[in-house]
Amino acid sequence: MLPSVNNIARARAHSNIAFIKYWGNRDHNLRLPANSSLSMNLGELHTTTTVEWIQAFDADTLEINGSPAEQGALERVRAHLDVIRRRLAIQSFAQVTSTNNFPMGTGIASSASAFAALTMAAVAAPGAELSERELSALARMGSGSAARSIPAGFVEWHAGDSHETSYAETFAHPDHWDLVDVIAVVSRRHKHVGSSAGHREADSSILQAARAGSAEQRLSDVKAAIVSRDFEAFASIVEEDSNLMHAVMMTSNPPLFYWDPLSLRVMRAVRSWRTAGRLRVCYTLDAGPNVHCICEAADAAAVADNLRELSANIEIIRSGAGPGAYVLPTMAV
Ligand code: DP6
Repeated sequence: MLPSVNNIARARAHSNIAFIKYWGNRDHNLRLPANSSLSMNLGELHTTTTVEWIQAFDADTLEINGSPAEQGALERVRAHLDVIRRRLAIQSFAQVTSTNNFPMGTGIASSASAFAALTMAAVAAPGAELSERELSALARMGSGSAARSIPAGFVEWHAGDSHETSYAETFAHPDHWDLVDVIAVVSRRHKHVGSSAGHREADSSILQAARAGSAEQRLSDVKAAIVSRDFEAFASIVEEDSNLMHAVMMTSNPPLFYWDPLSLRVMRAVRSWRTAGRLRVCYTLDAGPNVHCICEAADAAAVADNLRELSANIEIIRSGAGPGAYVLPTMAV
């Protein structure tokens, strides 16, 4: 075990929204993705996790938002702790407590911030110091999108072809562009099929090869649009990439339909506001029905007002770009 005062650390990581999506793996065990992806960390949405390695424990424990975690979540966290135990030659089990600041039950909770914060805290607890690149690769083993929550701001995850070469890094800092994610929460129901199961189905769609094969071009185009703050170019690629991922989902076997009728209404409205020159906004959806409406800060209030006018069933959560994962002072225990 590495030298440490307490063997305890607390870390925070932010959720992220992908503008070029990760969908499908070339290697499921290592979570080597079918294509590189690109995202923005969300400054307002985060997970805070404390990890304590305790010699006397005979199993890892996990508490989420004040309650013992259900078996599935516990097993996934244990598997990830095994990866970290192997990397740092740790022999003890861990007590893990985690809290999300996202409104509960909105379908916004994400494994990205959870596994990034877990990785950061578990590594910091014994006093280990790993590079950001290695932390990102390690977080990827817990959840692919977590690799992107380690670095700050606007982030590219290089698909790579091995554990070491599949990691994410910042290409623009959070203050580079004041983009805001105005999330239209259209449903509070839980996902019927989680992302991990979805990734395993991706290759059953004949569209997946075309989507993944063309992702690098969209990624370099959207990156250039972000670097030059070209909203029009950004908007059309982001919507196309989201539509392509959902086309793959819908044509997988069995098919995955994540949209609700209200999701589609929001998508149509967003496009019509933009094409009519009314609002500079575009949409993107992950593996769920909520619509992430991306705009510049100056337009965020108008976007939120228009969304609320569209339907009384829409709740709004708003976030700008955010930092990478970081270690917090450990509170007295
Ligand atoms: C649709 O990272 O949640 O949000 O690696 O199995 O944990 P696992 O999957 P996850 O997949 C995210 C899929 C997505 C698109 C994206 O964030 O790029």
